[in-house]
Amino acid sequence: MNALDIQLEKQEQLIKKLKKRNNELQRFYDEYKRVCRNEEERIKELNCLYQVAQCVVVENDIDIALDRIVRIVPHGWQFTTQTCARITFKNKIYLSPDFFESRICQSENIYIESRIMGAIHVFYKTEVGAESNNPFLIEERNLLKGIANIISFYLEKLRDNENRKIIQQQLLHADRLATIGQLAAGVAHELNEPLGNILGLAQLSLKLPGLPIQAEKDLGKIEDCVIYSREIIKKLMEFSRQSQLRKEKIDLNELIENSITFLEARCIKEGIKIVKEYTGNITVTVDRHQIKQVITNLTINAIQAMKNGGKLLFTTRKNSKNAIFCVEDTGIGIASENISKTFMPFFTTKDVGEGTGLGLSVVYGIIKNHNGDIKVSSDPGKGTTFEVCLPLEKN
Ligand SMILES: Nc1ncnc2c1ncn2[C@@H]1O[C@H](COP(=O)(O)OP(=O)(O)O)[C@@H](O)[C@H]1O
Ligand SMILES: [Mg+2]
Repeated sequence: MNALDIQLEKQEQLIKKLKKRNNELQRFYDEYKRVCRNEEERIKELNCLYQVAQCVVVENDIDIALDRIVRIVPHGWQFTTQTCARITFKNKIYLSPDFFESRICQSENIYIESRIMGAIHVFYKTEVGAESNNPFLIEERNLLKGIANIISFYLEKLRDNENRKIIQQQLLHADRLATIGQLAAGVAHELNEPLGNILGLAQLSLKLPGLPIQAEKDLGKIEDCVIYSREIIKKLMEFSRQSQLRKEKIDLNELIENSITFLEARCIKEGIKIVKEYTGNITVTVDRHQIKQVITNLTINAIQAMKNGGKLLFTTRKNSKNAIFCVEDTGIGIASENISKTFMPFFTTKDVGEGTGLGLSVVYGIIKNHNGDIKVSSDPGKGTTFEVCLPLEKN
């Protein structure tokens, strides 16, 4: 072997070594790229999971939440643009944009209390990975499980909230029934009979020939009053049976006007000046008869509190959430130790025959039934204000 051959062989070995090194480097680089891509995929998946979780934390409307989630899902999959998703829950279907149902699909059930209530499906729109048995990464299968769990948890939470509300309503109702319901319904029933007799007699008397004009007028008033009283009794009986609210859209100011007209004459007679400070255009969605009863009860209390006359103020206003009306008087006021008792059934400071102590508890029940609120504030010796809030209907 001459010197040149030796040189050549050395070079060949070097080239071999370099090639080997190069291959190693290539492998290393490929591995590095794979790890990086995996990292990227994991970040995408985590991001997707985070956004889904975020969605259920802030959203109380099932439709909106599921619609948002189904749009988020494809972003967690490796071939995002080729991925679409579908959520089915009860009888509804939520689809991601450009949805296409292909045969390449993975799915998870959505459970509420171990019962299947729906499902979430992920599809590849084209034949990506169609050749393999399971075209989806194991991470993607876990991701879908995670998302389905979050949705199940969310739906369960909403159902719990709904159940809690129903139970609260039932408790409230049970409480009401136990207190006012049974007794008031009984009393109302008893009163219905004699009132019926008064009405019948007044109507018979009205038919008597040669009745003096004044007597005829008075009998007419008796007739009106009895009809009105029977209406209230009917309402009380209905209310104690928790009659269904018959809600309708009504102008609040008009409703107040209608409720107090028949009391205006009485106010004039008793030296009470009625003042109205209305804000225009307040539409409430309420049971007309029940809210009328609220206004009547508050007004009668106010009149009874001003034995020596005074001022009776009705105000209306609204904010972003509520319609608000106040009934304010300049009467005797409520002693501070009695304030907390005013809404209790049968609490009264009035003489037998004047008060039953039922007016405000009926008022309270009606307002709560409308998801509203009522507050009382009073300055003994100076006057009392009742403020009623009724939620405005969302448009
Ligand atoms: N406007 C008011 N001014 C002073 N006291 C009031 C007023 N409204 C209610 N109250 C007090 O609350 C009690 C309960 O009222 P309510 O439930 O209507 O029953 P009732 O009028 O039959 O006594 C009244 O007896 C009275 O002591
Ligand atoms: Mg009363």
